[in-house]
Amino acid sequence: MFGQRDVTDRVFRSIRRPQAPPNPPYAGAPVVVLANRAPFRHERGADGRVSVHRSGSGLVTAVEPLVKACSGVWVAHAAGNADVNGVDDCGRRKAPPANPAYRLRYVSVTGDEYRGYYYGFANEGLWPLCHHVHVQPIFRTRDFHNYRVVNRRFAAAVCDEITGDAPVVFINDYHFALVPRMIRHHRPRNTIVAFWHIPWPHRRILRICPWRRQLLEGLLGADIIGFQTPEDCTNFLETVEAMFDCDVDPERSVVTHDGHTTLVRAYPVGVEWDNPVVRIAPPIDVCRDRVRRDLGVDGHVQLGVGIDRLDYTKGIDEKFLAIERLLETHPDFTGRFVFVQVAEPSRECLPAYEAARRQLLRTSERVNHRFGSEGYRPIILLERHHDPTEVHRLYRAADLCYVNSLHDGMNLVAKEFVRARDDDRGVLVLSQFTGASRQLTAALSVSPYALDESAQTLARSLRMPCSEQTARMRQMRNVVAEFDSHWWARRILEDATAISDAGRTCMTVEAAVALRLEA
Ligand code: G6P
Repeated sequence: MFGQRDVTDRVFRSIRRPQAPPNPPYAGAPVVVLANRAPFRHERGADGRVSVHRSGSGLVTAVEPLVKACSGVWVAHAAGNADVNGVDDCGRRKAPPANPAYRLRYVSVTGDEYRGYYYGFANEGLWPLCHHVHVQPIFRTRDFHNYRVVNRRFAAAVCDEITGDAPVVFINDYHFALVPRMIRHHRPRNTIVAFWHIPWPHRRILRICPWRRQLLEGLLGADIIGFQTPEDCTNFLETVEAMFDCDVDPERSVVTHDGHTTLVRAYPVGVEWDNPVVRIAPPIDVCRDRVRRDLGVDGHVQLGVGIDRLDYTKGIDEKFLAIERLLETHPDFTGRFVFVQVAEPSRECLPAYEAARRQLLRTSERVNHRFGSEGYRPIILLERHHDPTEVHRLYRAADLCYVNSLHDGMNLVAKEFVRARDDDRGVLVLSQFTGASRQLTAALSVSPYALDESAQTLARSLRMPCSEQTARMRQMRNVVAEFDSHWWARRILEDATAISDAGRTCMTVEAAVALRLEA
């Protein structure tokens, strides 16, 4: 029998051959998913025409294959100005637009509510608090008020979508910490899973949040709370133990609070290994030529890529500083290395994001001014959304991919890059402060705070022999293929099923999950 820690360690250490199943075994399981960000946004332009935009969120990348395979329902915020056009009386529409496989249920939120719930409490409060990257979290009473109001509205929409006791309710991320308890109140017989995609902070950091008690009580309404890494689980258990007079079993990773038992477990999220974007991608040479032509980069120049939302947690400015150091210390790369950074606009109305953007522009301009020349810019900054096909092409065209987050729950860009390299080439330079670095041990590890070392690592990657690239890439591809988004969904849904079966047979949650692990 495996305890929680053994299982998690096996997951993080083991490297086996890929076994991407064509049809995930959990296909058809009844699921209602809640996530603030919908996979699509419908926008009506000035000409009256409606266009559909895909979200660049890593959460969407992971959750959409699950809801698709289950033909489930996704409850989300209506962010586009034409999202609710053509929906039924309950705000539902079929998705994806081209090839419907599940249902989207939109919930409308007023501008004021959204400012408080999403921009305020979630993104000025919880986001910097959980990432702990030197941006001061801001907690306002009115933001928390709106957060609660909006959580209640989404909880009601989810309850509305639940038919009978079978559906598993799958609540995603820090936008909805209060929802599990709200749903439990109305639907005590359904199994509730809450997955926290971002890091969970140390208990001393959480003390900054005036409403930490409510957040924890809300989350503990779930039967399972999932995190990306074992460290997040430990932080969470220690927080709960410090704050409540309740039963915490760190060995089995179980909390009993207010008569209800919650399993706390790490499920490292993955990307869909075999997906349409991957399947239809042109050969590597075609991608290399196309990208170089589009960017105006010569064939002999080595290309690095970075794909991030424009967010201060992603360490984009620190990448530019490391590139500057590389060109200072290794002048032979001047004219022979170009770094293209996609920075997708995100949460633009928040001052911390605007400040991060200004800083990026300043640094990239300085580096280009110092080391650029006629027809050569070492840094190309592309500040716009790129769809998955464009991103995939960039990955396939690149000699290296640079992921430099100051702190990141998982980081799926790292895994997407590995997935894209069916030629077993290319180097992944990966921040040690990402959840992904626990699994992708064959990447070149960097600290975004150590600029000299990062510059050395970049130089090493640009000079890495093909045989070493291949050995490293193969190892990473095995991991990304095995622990893909279906593995993630399957693990979560299997545990959820074990718990709902336990409910029927009056078995304890831990006993039920332990039995499943033994099997
Ligand atoms: C992170 C969060 C997701 C979020 C994504 C994009 O990955 O964990 O919940 O969807 O960022 O951010 P946005 O605010 O645009 O949804």
